[in-house]
Amino acid sequence: MTTPDTPLLEISGIVKRYGGLVAIDHVDLQLQPGTITGVIGPNGAGKSTLISLIGGAIAASEGSIRLDGCDISRLPASERARAGIGRTYQIPRPFLDMTVEENLEVAQYSIQPFIRAAEARDERASLLDRTGLADVANLPAHALPLLRRKRLEVARALALRPRIILLDEVGAGLVDSEITELIALIHSIADPRTAIVIVEHVLRVVRECCARSMVLNFGKKLVEGPTLEIFANDEVAAVYLGTGTSTRLR
Ligand SMILES: Nc1ncnc2c1ncn2[C@@H]1O[C@H](COP(=O)(O)OP(=O)(O)OP(=O)(O)O)[C@@H](O)[C@H]1O
Ligand SMILES: [Mg+2]
Repeated sequence: MTTPDTPLLEISGIVKRYGGLVAIDHVDLQLQPGTITGVIGPNGAGKSTLISLIGGAIAASEGSIRLDGCDISRLPASERARAGIGRTYQIPRPFLDMTVEENLEVAQYSIQPFIRAAEARDERASLLDRTGLADVANLPAHALPLLRRKRLEVARALALRPRIILLDEVGAGLVDSEITELIALIHSIADPRTAIVIVEHVLRVVRECCARSMVLNFGKKLVEGPTLEIFANDEVAAVYLGTGTSTRLR
């Protein structure tokens, strides 16, 4: 049952163990529609694992994930995508020999096998436009430079008509001017019905896109709250930078 207070996504006590290693250790997180949430933390903290647990690429050892009140934690990734979870990968994974537009087509038909061709074409045209890829629609994905490939990752996630968009380090490898473009892209895809989660080492992306953030450390939630407060938190700075109490994240 959903009530007006039911979060769009509710993660409760999620755990992922790899043998003796606890990659995610009893993490809770709630996402409301219309929000962009940052997930930060040092290398190996469990950020990508959390994204994979939500998207269903890996199964949780314990805990539950509810989308609109429905437990999706036992569903395979393909059904979660159909239920409205779209993700990008830390290392972009387009079909390299297919064109940009064909990559979007694959994503569309994966969730709507019976979509009408004309409707799918219109939706692709709009997606290509929104993500700044219209001029390279007919190029093979392998011909794209990095920022365009990241744009394609975002477009593929959007082609799943997602209610949850999971972005794993889309900023990695981009120079400062490209980060500015990426930030504009993220703002442009924000939607009052959708929740976006951004895993990112490029803190500027988190600062400029995410009103709230969560910090993971050794698989545990260290702190969660308004991003500006998180960045001013001494414990967070110490975890991130290995410094004493005088350094703040910028
Ligand atoms: N398939 C796996 N088998 C065993 N251990 C794994 C597996 N995937 C991840 N881990 C371990 O789980 C922990 C969390 O990894 P994860 O990739 O989620 O970290 P991360 O926060 O995304 O790091 P980064 O910032 O480097 O991307 C690490 O110790 C990692 O080595
Ligand atoms: Mg990662």
